[in-house]
This record gives sequence, C-alpha cells and structure tokens, in this order.
Amino acid sequence: MPSLEPQKPNKLMQREEGSTMSLLFPDDWHLHLRDGEQMKDVLKHTIQRFRRAIIMPNLNPPICTEEQAENYRKRILSLLSSEDSLESQFTPLMTLYLTDQTSKEEIKRASRNDMIFGMKLYPMGSTTNSSEGVRHLAQLNPILSLMEELDLPLLIHAEETDPAIDIFDREGAFIDRYLQETVERFQGLRIVFEHISTSEAVDFVISSSERVAATITAHHLLMNRNSLFEGGIQPHNYCLPLLKTERDRLALVQAAVSGKADFFLGTDSAPHSQSSKERSCGCAGIYTSHCALELYAEVFEQEGALENLEGFASRNGPSFYQVPCNTDRIELIKKEQSIPSSFPYGSSRLIPFRSQRKVAWQISK
Ligand code: DOR
Ligand code: ZN
Repeated sequence: MPSLEPQKPNKLMQREEGSTMSLLFPDDWHLHLRDGEQMKDVLKHTIQRFRRAIIMPNLNPPICTEEQAENYRKRILSLLSSEDSLESQFTPLMTLYLTDQTSKEEIKRASRNDMIFGMKLYPMGSTTNSSEGVRHLAQLNPILSLMEELDLPLLIHAEETDPAIDIFDREGAFIDRYLQETVERFQGLRIVFEHISTSEAVDFVISSSERVAATITAHHLLMNRNSLFEGGIQPHNYCLPLLKTERDRLALVQAAVSGKADFFLGTDSAPHSQSSKERSCGCAGIYTSHCALELYAEVFEQEGALENLEGFASRNGPSFYQVPCNTDRIELIKKEQSIPSSFPYGSSRLIPFRSQRKVAWQISK
C-alpha cells in the first residue's frame, strides 16, 4: 500500500512500544452523527473516546429549531442504553443550523436551552447539506448582534462560495471578505472557526482575541493535498474544506501542539456510505471517529508534544464553551492497531480513514 500521508522525519521523543499515557477524558467539538441506523453504527466509536460532542445540525432537512434539536437529541440518547456505563456517560451538545429565515425568537429560545451550545453558519452551497444555509451573510447581522448579547456562540464553516474564487483559496477569501469584519463588528461574540485548513486561518485565530477559537481535524493534521491524488483520485480523502499544502499542514500542526488555548479538538468526522463517496460526483467527508484520539496522539508524539495533548483534547474546548472539564481519565497505549477495510453503516458500508492500514496508538477499553 503506498503511503498517502507526508513522510515524517524521525524525532527523538517517540514513546517506546507498550508505554502508556493517560489524560482527562476528551470531547469532540465538531462531529457529524447523521441519524437512524447510520447514527447507531458511528456513535459507538465516538463514545469510546469522547465524553461529549458538539453535534452538527446539517441533516436533511437541517436541525433549525429548538424542537428539532430536542427531538434529535432524544434520538441520540435513545441509542445510549443506561446499563452500559460508557454509553450512559456520553452527552450530545446540540447546535442549530442558521438560515436566512432564522428568527430572533429562535435565537432566544436556543440561548435559554441548556442543551444547545451554538448556532452553525453554513454559507449556502459551501458543503454537504448546505442548500438551506445562509445566502445573504450581511443580512445575518441582527441575528449575530442578538447572539452576541445573549452570549450564544457562532460556529462557522468558513469558506467563501463565490465560484470565481479558486477552491483552495476559499478559506482565506472568507477571512478577507467576511470574518475579519464580523469579528470586529461583534466584539463580544464568541466564534469557533471550524476545521481550519490554512496557515492564514492559524494566523487569524492567533491574532484575534480569545473569544475567537478554532477546531482542528486529525485529517488536516495528517494529510496535505497530495493525498487527494496519490496514485489516482482518492475519494476517501475528499473533505471540505479541502486538504491544503504541506506548508498549511505544518502551520496547523504547530498550532495544535502549541498548547495555545485557541485551538482544540474537533474531528469533523463525517461518515458517508461507500457508494456515495465512490461515484462520479462523490460526497465530501472523512470518517475518523473509529480512531480519532489515537490519530491526534500520533501527531503530538511525532512533534514531541504529547504533554500538550490533554490541553488540546480535554481542556481548551471546555474552557471556550464555558463548561467544566471531564474528571475521569482515558488511557492511551503506544501499540499498533490495524484499521478494518470498512465498517457497517446502516444498510451499507463506510470506508474509514486509514482503511487497511495501521495507527500507532490504541485506547485501553
Ligand atoms: O467534509 C465535510 N463533510 N465537510 C463538511 O463541512 C460537512 C461534512 C459532512 O457533513 O459530510
Ligand atoms: Zn463538519
């Protein structure tokens, strides 16, 4: 099998085979769980590794109201039987999907609801199930002003959708055309710049105040855009925002391992059936929930920064979202695991990240 990821230099800090480390239980601050039978198949991977997850609302139709979020939450909880201790400890943190029609009343309801942790902005046409997303960003200002007042976080899929913009430049263009101005206009609004993919995004977050934070995925830390085309087109490495250059990847790695509170773990694990990825117009999304924490451990180990993994995975997110950290711990073992070729996914299968390859770490179960 050819390696689809950049060759890494050997660093001296690598842990010995069989050594262990423990950290406060982490949370996933950006997750796609889907629904129904498919959700059942992916949720089990998440609850082995994370105590909480921010649940993305881009279902079809999207989760736009408090009532829809409560029903979705109940469907998630119904899959978590309380007899199993792992299952009973998982908490889904709900979000609502912003549209051109989102009302101020909906924002007020969301802000009063303890189960809802933010509003997700998908510019219309930016990604999977974003056709109901926001078409006129400027018209969102009264809603953002109310969110600022009520201290309800804004979670952004930050990509410019103007077709004149090169697809690899969409994140930078979104910063220049919208994000910079929005951050300045709403000085009290807490913003999560989701799944950052460029060095510009890293710089932007570092230069902004602490109310602007970013999630970073494992796949953006482990691959650059060569992985899209290595040996032929690689649909399972297609996600949005797209993988970027090696320079961008290195900037993301430096940000993640830096220990800076602005950056935290969000897998953006986004399952799609094998057939919807492997077709003439395949869907965007990489599935990493089955080994997410282990993948981040690989990156941090490679950088000699395992001591900062707990901040990134377990402390910085709770601090931004103003919730307590988890109190129990998870153990990681430096021991290779083999990733299966596919997993069940409702009535079909999904091809996971690292399919038929190895991951250097395991979690103790
Ligand atoms: O790759 C992606 N997949 N990026 C997104 O923004 C959405 C996600 C999905 O829902 O499949
Ligand atoms: Zn996502």
